[in-house]
Amino acid sequence: MSAHRGEFSSKAGFILAASGSAVGLGNIWGFPTNAAENGGGAFVLMYFLLAFCLAYPALMAELVIGRYTKANMVHALQAIAPGRLSKLLGKLTGFYGILVASLILAFYSIVAGWMLAYFFEPVATLLGLETLASWLTSDSIVRNLVLCFLFLALTCSVIVAGVEEGIEKWSCRLMPALFLMMAGLIVYVMLQPGAISGLKLYLIPDFNQLLDPKLVVSALGQAFFSLSLGVGTMLIYGSYLRPEESLPTMGAIVTLVDSSIAFLAGLLVLPALFVAQQQGLSIYTESGSLIAGPDLIFQTIPALFKNMGTVGIWVAMVFFALMSIAALTSSISMLEVPVSFTIEHHATHRRSATWLIGAIIFACSSVIIINFDALFGLVVTLATEYSQPLLGLMICVFATWVWHRDLVLEEIRSGHPDVEQSLFWKIWPHYAKYCCPILILVLLAQSFINS
Ligand code: PHE
Repeated sequence: MSAHRGEFSSKAGFILAASGSAVGLGNIWGFPTNAAENGGGAFVLMYFLLAFCLAYPALMAELVIGRYTKANMVHALQAIAPGRLSKLLGKLTGFYGILVASLILAFYSIVAGWMLAYFFEPVATLLGLETLASWLTSDSIVRNLVLCFLFLALTCSVIVAGVEEGIEKWSCRLMPALFLMMAGLIVYVMLQPGAISGLKLYLIPDFNQLLDPKLVVSALGQAFFSLSLGVGTMLIYGSYLRPEESLPTMGAIVTLVDSSIAFLAGLLVLPALFVAQQQGLSIYTESGSLIAGPDLIFQTIPALFKNMGTVGIWVAMVFFALMSIAALTSSISMLEVPVSFTIEHHATHRRSATWLIGAIIFACSSVIIINFDALFGLVVTLATEYSQPLLGLMICVFATWVWHRDLVLEEIRSGHPDVEQSLFWKIWPHYAKYCCPILILVLLAQSFINS
């Protein structure tokens, strides 16, 4: 559409950036802790099923709309809608997506700030700065504000540089680093006594729990959150994708990379939990379930590293650097959603749009930090458990009910000439039209009933 729009310069650039968006705290923290809470292997199995059968088709809907319209979510959904009413619905859905992306970024940067704190803490310890080290793990409001600010400033500075020089360049540097650090840590943890018990819990499914409604809803939410769906992130990344790339292949690679990293994170975190038990740390809550969530990441795991002595200081640094990097490649993709809208809608410069929106998001994060107990959980649930699947459903509806099927086909064909003969085209249009919306609705209704 417009000449100033950025573009990923290579296939690998897109894959790393989109996987960078997908791979985040959701994979390294959310996936293993969800698995720990929901019967280990049974959750892993259900997650893989839903990621490929529900989230991948929804991801395809976003990518194809994005690349065809070459626009942000508000403009994109309006552009493919034929009538006045559907255009209005497109506009509302687009704004809802931008709002949810911004809310996710607001709480995500608080958690990412904690990751930075736990990364700096061992550095401060090594330098002998004991007061700083204990402030970093103090959980005070000021600490949370300062580190959240730092993380958002980092995110803004990547986004200011644009698509190729910012998003693509940094994703290509950070993603391989993330993978290497993770592989190293897994090998290290696996060699410690106790690791095998965690591995068993993680890999052996308890089939009785497989259809437990709580497990299914958690796996669905996890799959949508992990693939960054519904909020226009993948739509906007699709809009920066060159026409000659094959969308079904790109989408499949991103889904595979994302699920594999989540799987690897489970190989790291759950065995680490049982290594901690071997060392005398308590890994069960008072109600008898396995420790999960913040307690796992910020108490059990750091305590485990402390027990390892000097080597533990380095292991802790690598672990929290890994978390911070994963968070950064995701947060840049969230910020790009409101920024690209502001640039395209108000003809603003990227630099001013980025810093302005960064400041607004920091204001939201500050409100959450100050009213943490009342707001944090609420924002997380509303944004990720309800809004993301609902928005994913709307995008599927736009791609298959509102938009013309021939145009969808034409767009996919540009990078995949024989798509009409492919299994993908035989299944996807019907599947995304009927099965995805119905399944998402059923699962959402179920989570309402259970809440
Ligand atoms: N997928 C990211 C993660 O797993 C989170 C995310 C959600 C990113 C929505 C962008 C948009 O951490």
